[in-house]
Amino acid sequence: MGESSIEVRKLDHIRICLEKDVEFKQKTTWFEFVEFIHVAAPELNYDDIETSTEFLGRKFSAPILIEGMTGGAKGTEIINKNLAMSALEFNIPLGLGSQRAAVEKPELVESFRIVRDVAPDVFLIANIGGVQLIEGGVKLAEEVVSMVDANALAIHLNPLHEIVQPHGTTSFKGTLDAIRKIVEKLSVPVIVKEVGCGISGELSRRLSEMGVAAIDVGGAGGTNWAKIERIRALEKGFLENAAIGKTFLEWGIPTAAATIEACTSTKIPIISSGGIRSGLDIAKAIAIGASMAGIARPLLHHAVVSSDRIVKVLRQMVSELKTAMFLTGCQNIESLKKVNVVITGRLLEWIKQRGIQHPKVRI
Ligand SMILES: Cc1cc2nc3c(=O)[nH]c(=O)nc-3n(C[C@H](O)[C@H](O)[C@H](O)COP(=O)(O)O)c2cc1C
Repeated sequence: MGESSIEVRKLDHIRICLEKDVEFKQKTTWFEFVEFIHVAAPELNYDDIETSTEFLGRKFSAPILIEGMTGGAKGTEIINKNLAMSALEFNIPLGLGSQRAAVEKPELVESFRIVRDVAPDVFLIANIGGVQLIEGGVKLAEEVVSMVDANALAIHLNPLHEIVQPHGTTSFKGTLDAIRKIVEKLSVPVIVKEVGCGISGELSRRLSEMGVAAIDVGGAGGTNWAKIERIRALEKGFLENAAIGKTFLEWGIPTAAATIEACTSTKIPIISSGGIRSGLDIAKAIAIGASMAGIARPLLHHAVVSSDRIVKVLRQMVSELKTAMFLTGCQNIESLKKVNVVITGRLLEWIKQRGIQHPKVRI
């Protein structure tokens, strides 16, 4: 039985993400172990709260990033178009899905390029797999950036995903060296991201020493790629892949832990993502050290319908973020970054065992 083309795989991902329960089940993001200290008398007016922030040299209306999801298959244009229109309206950055398919099949370029047609000024993040860059190098990185006139490049690292995926690419040796060369040569900032297993403090430090501009931790607790590829493997009769997917269903560094790992290991901006599901999650991510919070799958269901639907969800999240800021007496994102939190349970245990020195945690 042969594995399908990249194009079919991309459509499978969308279908499975829309139709099935693909979230982590036992493992959570661990944001439940981050507690704010309620302020009963906030000396500020809710209407004066400001959520704007700066990231990679641009000012955005909120510390929210739409994570890369799609493109690279016929029918995905509408999703990218709606995401782009909402990112433009909201003035927040937008990530694209992996552009590998369009490099191999130029007729698919439009599924990405549509974003520039409808939102010429949106801060756009191109996307390619780290593993593809071992062979493709700087040339491939430049190609995906210029394909959409991107403002930054996200390089995704997804070893578990590739293992469970039938015929996934599992030769990762040389990825870091490829990233180092690209960072040296590329004219736009490079973001390195995971897709749901998290990035550790050790790797964050190495990446920042190479000159990577930002790290998107893509932690565990949200969309689960072992699960998505396990579903595909079962559908296509790849039983060994499916069994590995089952064993590793709960693998990964929970998003709150990955965020703390990364933030305490480097000074470069950290994007907290993987299971961000509310404005309260966003507030907690910022309070433990992130510069931005990234959201993917919760927007997909709306992106297939209209940009208005996405804007509505984003508005709700910003209202929740502002509520958390109001209840902690924070008028702006800078004060939210400084506000005290109490860290409990498994997250505290993790911090202790890992010997992490977090400015807000007294052990
Ligand atoms: C349908 C779908 C497709 C995705 N495709 C990509 C991709 O091509 N490249 C990438 O870096 N991440 C991809 N991701 C991962 C997201 O960018 C994000 O890291 C992950 O879904 C965790 O965020 P969430 O829990 O908010 O969904 C995809 C996610 C979804 C839901």
